[in-house]
Amino acid sequence: MAQILIVVGTESGNARMCADHLQDNLPALGHAVEVVEEADAGSVSFDGRDAVLVCTSTHGDGELPDNLIPLAERLRGEQPDLSHLRYGVIALGDQTYQETFCRAGKQMDALLAACGARRVGERLEIDACTQPLPDEEALNWAQEWVTLL
Ligand SMILES: Cc1cc2nc3c(=O)[nH]c(=O)nc-3n(C[C@H](O)[C@H](O)[C@H](O)COP(=O)(O)O)c2cc1C
Repeated sequence: MAQILIVVGTESGNARMCADHLQDNLPALGHAVEVVEEADAGSVSFDGRDAVLVCTSTHGDGELPDNLIPLAERLRGEQPDLSHLRYGVIALGDQTYQETFCRAGKQMDALLAACGARRVGERLEIDACTQPLPDEEALNWAQEWVTLL
């Protein structure tokens, strides 16, 4: 059984909806899921955690949702040793933003890796243009992801 912490980055709720869907469904597979409230994402501690799932959209011109900016700045500035941590990334975006598709998820992926965390599985990139059910796609992906932990 894995203890999974989901850190959400969202502006209009889609990423939160995905996280909530995982929280509702992964316990049936034997995993404990905690979702960090958006407002608390900046101060989240990874101490004692072994699996983190970042679930974030991209906004503006390839930017992080506002609520994830403090966490990204902390990781970049403090470079904490996260070598104990395994993580996954669910990146929500829209392919019509060709140059910046899912850039926030890619950025969080790179920041965690730079702190020594080990990504498990491939990053999931969900395209709002072609996927009307992002929470279902996220759950399908996560059901496989948890088997890799
Ligand atoms: C104003 C605006 C800017 C966006 N910019 C990007 C972008 O640069 N790259 C991208 O991949 N998606 C972009 N998107 C698409 C969102 O990431 C996508 O709609 C996502 O599902 C929103 O999730 P959220 O509700 O959790 O914030 C943008 C959406 C809006 C409304």
